[in-house]
Amino acid sequence: MSGMKDAGHLFRFAGLFVLAFLVFLVVRTYVVPKSFGEYGHYRGAAIGEIASRPIKFAGHQTCETCHADIADTKTKGAHAHVNCEACHGALAAHADDPMTVTPVKPDTAVLCAQCHTASAAKPKDFPQVDPADHSGGVPCETCHNPHSPIIGSDSGASAGSGSSAKTAKGGAK
Ligand code: HEC
Ligand code: HEC
Ligand code: HEC
Ligand code: HEC
Repeated sequence: MSGMKDAGHLFRFAGLFVLAFLVFLVVRTYVVPKSFGEYGHYRGAAIGEIASRPIKFAGHQTCETCHADIADTKTKGAHAHVNCEACHGALAAHADDPMTVTPVKPDTAVLCAQCHTASAAKPKDFPQVDPADHSGGVPCETCHNPHSPIIGSDSGASAGSGSSAKTAKGGAK
């Protein structure tokens, strides 16, 4: 019988644990947000909150519906896989209301250098230049069409040259 008597302090200790656990459960019901666990191990209401934020990027498909001529030039050039908003910035506001929100033209001295400044960290086959040496301060778009940058590959320099003349069909042979 003396063994059972000696175990008394163990039961008091276990009781303390049970009590602490109950306190934890009570506190937990107050501090865990209501929608937690609705779909998974996160706050279900977060989905609606994030979805209701204003959209900033329109996506290149949206740009292309209105600027088909530029999209056409671009898909044939070296920048085919560089998306519109990588250079022009987030423009959902312009896409929604093009007449009120006019984009500023990018400063090519900054923009082009961001991707093309030579660095040992870049893959060797990625086209890179030392901008100061290469252009001598002349703006990049003087020689390169930003939408099709290889010189002579499309309409050449000056992105503002508009649509190119099309050869007349059915002319005399
Ligand atoms: C609903 C049609 C529409 C959509 C969509 C649209 N644009 Fe435009 N965009 C226009 C029109 C119209 C103008 C000319 C407005 C003006 O001259 O003020 C224009 C002008 C521009 C300009 C030139 C501003 C200048 O200084 O000449 C840029 C750059 C441009 N858009 C980029 C974009 C990009 C990038 C997207 C996709 C995120 C886009 N646009 C989506 C209709 C659209
Ligand atoms: C590699 C960067 C780059 C990409 C990608 C790019 N643009 Fe541009 N875009 C420019 C720059 C730089 C200018 C300004 C050129 C200038 O000042 O002459 C410009 C000018 C324009 C203009 C003004 C009119 C013109 O022809 O100069 C429009 C409109 C435009 N871009 C739309 C688009 C759309 C739409 C896309 C995607 C299909 C796109 N751009 C992709 C860099 C880019
Ligand atoms: C967001 C990054 C990005 C920006 C900004 C950008 N480029 Fe590019 N550029 C690329 C990529 C990616 C390629 C394709 C590289 C490849 O084919 O391996 C490319 C290709 C080129 C090439 C073709 C090189 C060759 O001979 O194959 C030229 C020239 C060029 N860019 C010039 C420019 C100019 C001028 C600007 C500014 C108007 C500019 N780039 C802005 C990413 C960029
Ligand atoms: C005076 C005309 C001129 C100006 C200004 C100019 N370039 Fe070039 N660039 C060229 C020529 C010519 C080539 C070689 C032909 C080609 O690849 O299209 C070239 C090639 C390139 C290449 C490809 C290099 C490679 O290894 O294949 C890149 C990238 C480039 N330029 C970026 C720029 C950037 C960025 C600017 C602005 C800081 C700029 N260029 C300004 C004329 C110019």
